[in-house]
Amino acid sequence: MERAKWLKKVRAQTEALYDHGAPAFWVKWGLSPDQMHREFIEKFLRRFDGPSDILDAACGAGLYDGMLYEAGHRVFGIDQSGGVLARAQEHYPQEHFPGLRYAKIGLQEMDFQTVYDGIICMDAMEHICTEEWPVILANFHKALRPGGVLYVTVDAQKLDEDGKAYERAKLMGLPVVFGEVVDELEAAYAEAMALEALELNTLSYERLDHTVYHFHPPMEQVRLWYDQAGLAIEEEGTGDDYVHVLARKSS
Ligand SMILES: C[S@@+](CC[C@H](N)C(=O)[O-])C[C@H]1O[C@@H](n2cnc3c(N)ncnc32)[C@H](O)[C@@H]1O
Repeated sequence: MERAKWLKKVRAQTEALYDHGAPAFWVKWGLSPDQMHREFIEKFLRRFDGPSDILDAACGAGLYDGMLYEAGHRVFGIDQSGGVLARAQEHYPQEHFPGLRYAKIGLQEMDFQTVYDGIICMDAMEHICTEEWPVILANFHKALRPGGVLYVTVDAQKLDEDGKAYERAKLMGLPVVFGEVVDELEAAYAEAMALEALELNTLSYERLDHTVYHFHPPMEQVRLWYDQAGLAIEEEGTGDDYVHVLARKSS
């Protein structure tokens, strides 16, 4: 299959999978942030002097939005999955959280112009292919005000495992690039879609990871993309299976 067509298909599957699993958020998973994620959210929050405008990009069911909101900020959450957004809206009813809003917008389609003091994008960029990373970083840059802060978690490359997944996917005839983990995607996706949302946790952690498209970029490449997008990395840390990257748009 031609790569562009295949990428379109796997992106649609990602949306459908999150829509399907949405009822499990705030019930079976996504109940509280991991330690390192929490620490980096606190570092992110310390970079603001007063109430600010924050974008939660690929917000899911809004795991971090309570923390951002309670810190006094206005929060706008966007995601491509209407299912997870519905869970976020149920969890944070508008009458109790007037400064917290949601909209269905994909990272690739974001078109905000200099309106945010801060952006977080948590545990979502692994669903983005190598072609679209620079597009999305450019969208983040455009959305930030001068001096604005960006916190992204990166599911970085694991040479050994990713190499094996790449070889298997090539043998299957898939139009993959190195770092894409998709060799079990079709089977795991079908298995997950046949289960009820609240039964998805019966799948092993590894199998669950395979139900949806993953791309693991090398960190050297990520740093180069940041540089090219005009985003200066201020701090990096590794923990909870992610590289945590705090960056800033120049003033
Ligand atoms: C693992 S969840 C993380 C959700 C939330 N950020 C959190 O940490 O709880 C990944 C999220 O990324 C969203 N997502 C994946 N690809 C996306 C895209 N291209 N545009 C917008 N959202 C996307 C999914 O719908 C899902 O809600």
